[in-house]
Amino acid sequence: MSSLFSSTITLGKELKVTDAEFGQLRDFIYAQCGIYVADNRKYLLENRLANRLKQLNLKNFSEYYYYLQYDAGRREELNRLFEVITTNETSFYRNPPQLQVFQEQILTDVLDSLRKSGQKKLRIWSAGCSTGEEPYTLAMIIADVLKGELPTWDVRITANDLSERVLESARRGVYNEYTLRSTPKDVLARHFVKQDSFYAVRPELKKLILYHQINLSDAAQIKRVERSQIVFCRNVIIYFDDEMKKKVIGAFYDNLLPGGYLIIGHSESLHNISRAFKPIHYPGAIIYKKEG
Ligand SMILES: C[S@@+](CC[C@H](N)C(=O)[O-])C[C@H]1O[C@@H](n2cnc3c(N)ncnc32)[C@H](O)[C@@H]1O
Repeated sequence: MSSLFSSTITLGKELKVTDAEFGQLRDFIYAQCGIYVADNRKYLLENRLANRLKQLNLKNFSEYYYYLQYDAGRREELNRLFEVITTNETSFYRNPPQLQVFQEQILTDVLDSLRKSGQKKLRIWSAGCSTGEEPYTLAMIIADVLKGELPTWDVRITANDLSERVLESARRGVYNEYTLRSTPKDVLARHFVKQDSFYAVRPELKKLILYHQINLSDAAQIKRVERSQIVFCRNVIIYFDDEMKKKVIGAFYDNLLPGGYLIIGHSESLHNISRAFKPIHYPGAIIYKKEG
């Protein structure tokens, strides 16, 4: 925090973003990843990027915009820009009522129909997984539901995010106590190995998850994700405008197998976005079903 503050002061007036530059950058960011940077985040963007411009020896935001489009380092810079504009907040067992519905209703229903069909192949997609807390939580719930039966199942959670940096941390799977604050004690004991003051996810669970980078605004990348029975996309679409929300939710619909479920964040809604799903109301959660 203090370094951001001091860098803006040292750099002085020339590193202020003009309205025109902000508009250019905003359009560029939207075209790249579907995130719409609202007017009230202009100064945040300016503060967070000032240091970057200094490191790159750029005189103003127009030069930065040019760099993002034409410089040999533009791909790497785009990743850095994504890190600046995304919010990666997450935690294990985030929103317990929703996860209880997942465990007791949704997962049970999906596992039962898979057992009946004789195809014990479970596919879950965690879209916008940040540092991995969500997909690991899902893996832990699945392991606790299937218990000794787990090795007889083919289970895969596809987890992806826009930011390579958060994915690296997800692949490591080592966490501090703060992000585990809502995790039941017995889960902590069962699924983690304590390493000094940190907790490492057990390797048996790590291998259920496949992490890779995906930009949800890239239709071709989304199409390559294996089809799933359940899609989790929580606390991600809040950063998108309606047009982008419609695109992404439509892509989840296409990815889901008939009878599959979409689980979005507690404060998010598909109102005015999609009528394709059937909303099912449970105490503490609304889950969206693809009928079929
Ligand atoms: C607030 S976190 C949510 C993490 C987790 N799903 C949860 O609910 O705890 C939002 C994540 O969405 C990712 N994200 C934002 N826009 C994205 C896009 N266009 N493609 C892929 N991931 C994106 C961000 O990088 C960030 O890690």
